[in-house]
Amino acid sequence: MGAAAQAEETIPAHVATALVDAACYADHRIHDAYRWLRANNPLGRVRLEAFDPFWVVTRHADILSISRQNDLFHNADRATTLTNKAVLERVHKITGQPNLVRSLVQMDAPDHPKYRALTQGWFMPANIARFEPRIREIARATVDRMAAKAAANGGVCDFVEDVALGYPLHVIMEILGVPEEDEPRMLKLTQELFGPQDPDTARVREALSAELFAAMLQAVVADFAAYFQRITEDRKANPREDLATVIANAKINGEDMPLHDRTSYYMIVATAGHDTTSSSTAGAIWALAEDPEQFARVKAEPGLIPGLVDEAIRWMTPVKHFMRSATADTELGGRHIARGDWLMLCYASGNRDEAVFDEPDAFRCDRKPNRHVAFGYGAHLCLGQHLARLEMRILFEELLQRLSSLAPVGPVKMTQATFVNGPKKLPIRVEMS
Ligand code: HEM
Repeated sequence: MGAAAQAEETIPAHVATALVDAACYADHRIHDAYRWLRANNPLGRVRLEAFDPFWVVTRHADILSISRQNDLFHNADRATTLTNKAVLERVHKITGQPNLVRSLVQMDAPDHPKYRALTQGWFMPANIARFEPRIREIARATVDRMAAKAAANGGVCDFVEDVALGYPLHVIMEILGVPEEDEPRMLKLTQELFGPQDPDTARVREALSAELFAAMLQAVVADFAAYFQRITEDRKANPREDLATVIANAKINGEDMPLHDRTSYYMIVATAGHDTTSSSTAGAIWALAEDPEQFARVKAEPGLIPGLVDEAIRWMTPVKHFMRSATADTELGGRHIARGDWLMLCYASGNRDEAVFDEPDAFRCDRKPNRHVAFGYGAHLCLGQHLARLEMRILFEELLQRLSSLAPVGPVKMTQATFVNGPKKLPIRVEMS
């Protein structure tokens, strides 16, 4: 490639640095970078010393186009989340693969559809509807606890700590079949897996060397493996009506699922389902706390709640990206993508694409249509999307009717992570019945 063409596709260093810097995801800087990219270089390339070069896909249409071509853009061939060269090298030494785990996200056809089919039915609306009464009980208990906490504290509580973290965790653990006393352990492991760049959740509270970082992730995976091995043994001996029983007894091509795949399967269900939903739930309350008119409107019209849920998921977009790699040379958005090239699908940018969303930075619970890509698209479209919507809808139905006022009381703090992030502190003042 000529120097001029390379210069044209290369993303300027100050924007490229924002994309790889976890601190920029904790404030508006990542959105400034995305906005610049959508306008000036929607399919540009990051060339930074610490990373293998990668394409950055920031427009909604390009994210859809890549996500729907699952043969041309694979998940498993390279790391599925942004990882620097030094960590990649360590991960490769540990597993012989680009990824530490092999869950649905790290698979392609022909394995992916077989593994996905094992639990797809579980996650369909017709099946999860049977959990609605139990989820409502959990939501009511959560709102009761929040009211008691606020009452004891002059009306102030931290919505993340008191509601958003525990509620989706409790729901997914019940569905999976993990006992309540083990939930704090699952929460901690998830935060260590998704947020190792955040100083508040990392096991080692200093700048992590590649070696420590990879070792820390490996230790987290080993903890999950040990925990779920006991669950597998139990569910093989005593099958129940839970999802763990489905995973423990699942057969692939007539054989037991390989151990590493089974651990990875439990891990994705145990982890993908709560940090993401927590962040979106907190996003809705953050937006409503800052906009009393919208709060009053959604309280008066509960029919707006499903729209509120999807708008919160769009606005927060907790999963900031997933990576793909090209299986053949191709043309896209005027760029030549070569076989093996690595691409970052920036869902949070697609969800603020001016070509698709009016006033994309504004939170509007009556946004229609709302064709966000926060759950991805194509063969890997989020398996838990109906569950996430169901549990958020039920929580807001229970919470909004008891909340007579809502206001922010201090700065919102976001987690520092380039993969999954959202509020970690959301202090609010409430009046509740
Ligand atoms: C996949 C987002 C909640 C389980 C994904 C993907 C995204 C995502 C972006 C990748 C899609 C792609 O590559 O095209 C979210 C968001 C959630 C959420 C924003 C909440 C608001 C859940 C819940 C579960 C779950 C509650 C339940 C356990 C999964 C699984 C996959 C997945 C198993 C892998 C699917 C596959 O690769 O075939 N999610 N998710 N997610 N999600 Fe979710």
